[in-house]
Amino acid sequence: MGTNDNEESVFTPWEVRGKVDYQRLMKEFGTEPVNEKLLNRIKKHTSGSLHFMLRRGIFFTHRDMNWILDEYEKGNKFYLYTGRGPSDHTHIGHIVPWIFTKWLQEKFKTKFIFQLTDDEKYVFADKLEMEDTYSYALDNALDIIALGFDSKNTEILIDTDNAKTFYKIALPVAKRITYSTVKSSFGFDNSMNIGGIFYTSIQAVPAILESVRQGKNIPCLIPHAIDQDPHFRLARDVLPKLGYYKPANIQCKFVPALSGPDGKMSSSNPNETIFVTDDPKSIKKKINKYAFSGGRDTVSEHREKGGDPDIDVSFQWLKILFEPDDAKLNKIEEEYRSGEMLSGELKAILIEKMVKFLEDHQDAREKAKDKLDDFLVKD
Ligand code: TYM
Repeated sequence: MGTNDNEESVFTPWEVRGKVDYQRLMKEFGTEPVNEKLLNRIKKHTSGSLHFMLRRGIFFTHRDMNWILDEYEKGNKFYLYTGRGPSDHTHIGHIVPWIFTKWLQEKFKTKFIFQLTDDEKYVFADKLEMEDTYSYALDNALDIIALGFDSKNTEILIDTDNAKTFYKIALPVAKRITYSTVKSSFGFDNSMNIGGIFYTSIQAVPAILESVRQGKNIPCLIPHAIDQDPHFRLARDVLPKLGYYKPANIQCKFVPALSGPDGKMSSSNPNETIFVTDDPKSIKKKINKYAFSGGRDTVSEHREKGGDPDIDVSFQWLKILFEPDDAKLNKIEEEYRSGEMLSGELKAILIEKMVKFLEDHQDAREKAKDKLDDFLVKD
């Protein structure tokens, strides 16, 4: 689905293999492009500025953003919802939707609900026990707090700590989704355990949680990467049948793995991935050793023909996450394309930026340990 037509292609919320074709996914999933008109509309509410992830097309597709803005303009404010399946430490891909969500929270002054699906990771990962997924949930919560979300407007909910609330809301959702729908939406076969079959109804809950709490419909906007779309397609189908609004989404592309520009970074191979907890030495080593380069085989060929930033993982990481300044990014792109900048020099720029970013993040994570109680919500 949405990938090359070779046998290796897989695209589900749990696994992405093969080259990702974003235009094709958008068509298959039936989402709208984030276009100039929408960007101009968003700008009206953000003092004329746009987050670099919008300017650069990282958040590239959506559903019902215009409706969210219509309602907002009428005074019917939305809340934000996103989440994480805690199977390991957070990697640098996960924080892309979160950084963007934080910007939205600041600009639109909205409430934000963050779901940590320890139940999901327990039922989907063979090797993880419930103690593991719960302890990763607490670990991953630190990353949300470290990114600087406003504690007065942010709630972090670990699923197993909120079972009573979630189960009651999930049941009517689950009742309206058949096994055959789940099979075709997620590519399950008959070997899927029944926890996995039920799970999507739990991911739907925070999309209506505020409406349930307040006893009236509140619009919900969900920023996430495009791999989570199948969950919200189902939620959008079912929730109106229960009298709720469809949740809106704004979706981003993936931070690619170290090995190449076409796919998705995931936690399963540590040599493909940089975790936000990695130390400077291993960051440097991984990038120098594994980051796929758009440079040429020899220095003289590179000087003559130039490098290709479009396929260069180091450049892509700067673009998606680590160099928010457009002028600086453009300069790097020009110099690399012209052959003036070598691949090693580009990697050195990335390493410096990343080490600074992650050292600051790790400091903030340490401080976040004292703030967990301000954010965590339990039954
Ligand atoms: P999870 O833990 O796989 O991913 C967390 C968030 O990160 C996004 N993501 C990426 N973004 C950019 N580059 C990547 N390489 C990359 N890999 C993952 C995911 O799209 C997600 O937004 N089932 C979910 C947890 C969840 C959730 C939600 C996610 C519960 N409720 C609502 C989004 C919105 C999961 O396992 O995400």
